[in-house]
Amino acid sequence: MAQDNYDKIRPVCWKNDHLELLDQRILPKKHEFIVYNDLVDVADAITDMVVRGAPAIGITAAYGVVLAARARYAEDGDNWKANIEKDLKYLADSRPTAVNLFWAIDQMKQSIAQVSGDPVPVLLSKANHILEEDIAANKAMGAAGAALISDKCAVLTHCNAGALATGGYGTALGVIRSAFAQGKIENVYADETRPWMQGSRLTAWELAHDDIPVTLQSDGVAAYLMQQGKIEWVIVGSDRIASNGDVANKIGTYGLAVLAKFHGVKFMVAAPTSTIDMNISQGSDIPIEQRGEDEVLGCGGKRIAAAGVKAWNPAFDVTPAALVDAIVTEKGVVQNPTPKKMQELMTN
Ligand code: MRU
Repeated sequence: MAQDNYDKIRPVCWKNDHLELLDQRILPKKHEFIVYNDLVDVADAITDMVVRGAPAIGITAAYGVVLAARARYAEDGDNWKANIEKDLKYLADSRPTAVNLFWAIDQMKQSIAQVSGDPVPVLLSKANHILEEDIAANKAMGAAGAALISDKCAVLTHCNAGALATGGYGTALGVIRSAFAQGKIENVYADETRPWMQGSRLTAWELAHDDIPVTLQSDGVAAYLMQQGKIEWVIVGSDRIASNGDVANKIGTYGLAVLAKFHGVKFMVAAPTSTIDMNISQGSDIPIEQRGEDEVLGCGGKRIAAAGVKAWNPAFDVTPAALVDAIVTEKGVVQNPTPKKMQELMTN
């Protein structure tokens, strides 16, 4: 079956003169888009996780720059570039780990440097291009990742690296969609992904939406699943990959990689090259977002832990390159990543 049969979700859309974001905080109960006309609101939407997932954050930021430029041009006329740096800084401060945010802002800055007169047509076309390229990259990764899966098997994924986390189609879920379309996936085990529940609220919804068989499990089940020989691959996305191939992704990913190595399960990371940060030489230099204690102390907005208990809530961890079997990008696949192989990928 064609990839397109499994490509129905678009979380970030520009409609006429405004941005619309699918509110991921209330999925799957409600499917509602919020309208944005202002950069500060867009940056806050990233911080508050109305939109989340590294590529989707980058695309949203690109459209945020369009809104900022439009407002500055309306206010300052031909001097609009003088004050836009403040807006870009506010946007860049919205979340620290996903490098796609900074990559997209840089891309937009390059267009800002070239534009004269009304900036909206040029910047909007650039943001649209970033969105379309992301979807094309996901489809290319889908094909390349699916080619690594030889026999019909079950796989495990963590967090949500799906259409919701990208322009559409997804990175890890893009590979899963493509492999399923080729008859190679019999079941997807989805970690619920405490504390924000991206797995149960988003991944399970996305796969069910596309009629791909999915089994939800609590995060602690993965070791037992692997011990029973039930899966061949762990397939995840990434928020930032260092130039040596170390991979930052949702908290819990590192534990899965260690388990996978112990049990002889293969470990695949699917991410566009906009997620690779060649300025960072190793994973320990990647900034890791710390989120509020409340996410861990409770669930679904209700406090569970006893009063006075503290919590630690790092949102991401780093998987060393040595535990990664393949990094799948739109430019090619890097097996057993090393600094040299990453350099070759990025200069090709
Ligand atoms: O905190 P989130 O939901 O933004 O974290 C998202 C992830 O960790 C994803 O796995 C990653 O961004 C890859 S998305 C294609």
